[in-house]
Amino acid sequence: MTGNTGREQWSSTLGFILASIGSAVGIGNVWRFPYIVGANGGGAFLIPYLISVLLFGLPLMVLEFAIGRNTGTSVVTAFRSIQGRFSFAGLAVVAIASLVLSYYLVITSWVLAYALFFALNRPVDFGAFTSSYLPLIFFLLSGIAVFLTVRSGVREGIEKVSRVLIPVLVVILLFLVVFALTQAGAMDGIGFYLSPDYSRLADPTVWTAAFGQAFFSLSVGMGVMLTYGSYLEGGDLFRNASVIAVADMLIAILAGLVIFPLVFTAGLDPAAGVNLTFITLPAVFTGMRFGMVLGALFFAMLFTAALTSAVSMLEVPVAAMMDSRGYSRKRATLLVFGVIMLLGLPSALSYTALELELLGTPLLDLNDYLFGTIGLIVAGLIISIVGGWYMDRTRVCTEIGGCGWQQKIYMALIRYCVPAILLITLIASLLQAAG
Ligand code: PHE
Repeated sequence: MTGNTGREQWSSTLGFILASIGSAVGIGNVWRFPYIVGANGGGAFLIPYLISVLLFGLPLMVLEFAIGRNTGTSVVTAFRSIQGRFSFAGLAVVAIASLVLSYYLVITSWVLAYALFFALNRPVDFGAFTSSYLPLIFFLLSGIAVFLTVRSGVREGIEKVSRVLIPVLVVILLFLVVFALTQAGAMDGIGFYLSPDYSRLADPTVWTAAFGQAFFSLSVGMGVMLTYGSYLEGGDLFRNASVIAVADMLIAILAGLVIFPLVFTAGLDPAAGVNLTFITLPAVFTGMRFGMVLGALFFAMLFTAALTSAVSMLEVPVAAMMDSRGYSRKRATLLVFGVIMLLGLPSALSYTALELELLGTPLLDLNDYLFGTIGLIVAGLIISIVGGWYMDRTRVCTEIGGCGWQQKIYMALIRYCVPAILLITLIASLLQAAG
């Protein structure tokens, strides 16, 4: 470990773990995971998902922590210290994280808007909302919330916000689970969600869906965990990463136990993504007793999840600027914030009356595919190759507790299995888009 004096640090391991859980638990857990489970074999999907998390996601997370902690710096400068010519690869990772953030923030802002609408007892129709000027105001508001958090620093901003918001999220989620499970349609919902269809495991697309979801949900492959690891001093990386992965998985599974019982109780069809969260669920809440309160709670929970994830993505370019250009945190945050808002504007406008589309797809959806799916896989490949093949073995070993047989197995996973799986997922995602 290079004890980079003067570098910001987490106040404790707990603070670091909460911030990382904050990054991992995001919109992906609530709107993506439950639906993917329902559509890919129900309970049986948990098998490929668990395998993806354990064999590929977790090792990559540990590698990112190890690179960050060992080099004591963020993506671009960390890659440069591994080999000068990898600065560009680092820049590519930073660019992808920024581009994902630019549209992630748009969804975050819708969530914030919905939380307020329900709290004010004024649910709105998604079409009416998006064709008004309101999305732009909420885009700016959520951007400012993320900006202020990152500007306050690692300990005073990111860590503090996570320490408050993660417990709030868990309490709201548990309350909603209990409520949802006591509703009339709970059994039908759980049936759709979890009853296992093992025959689906023979379908390769079920497996690539599991790989993609695991990487996205664990926030690995975008340099977030690398950057967070650079603020870390001691501790067992495998243990910490396991705690983060288990928390992420539990919260994703619990989210499904809220969504499907409620949707089936209302007699509606479960949909995916944008439609599930912003059309189906609001309809469920609007039509039920205490719906305004429950809706407000649900969207407030989703906002806390999204905010801490967006914060972690913003930290990637901000830390890169501070470390490679010597900018102050204030200056770097302001600059990056401006760029992200501009980058996000087309996505923010794509569901408004302007309907910015390309190839008949709203820009936001296109960005989710280009950057959130393809870009994430490419960035993950870059990190696993630079860290697995080019970083000095002994440097990796010092971070992961020696160079014994366990570590040899680990290195084999990182060098061969993780890149191979990422490549397969990349090809599958490209084929799926083409077909
Ligand atoms: N893990 C977050 C989610 O589930 C998204 C994310 C991906 C955040 C990559 C940071 C980095 O929504």
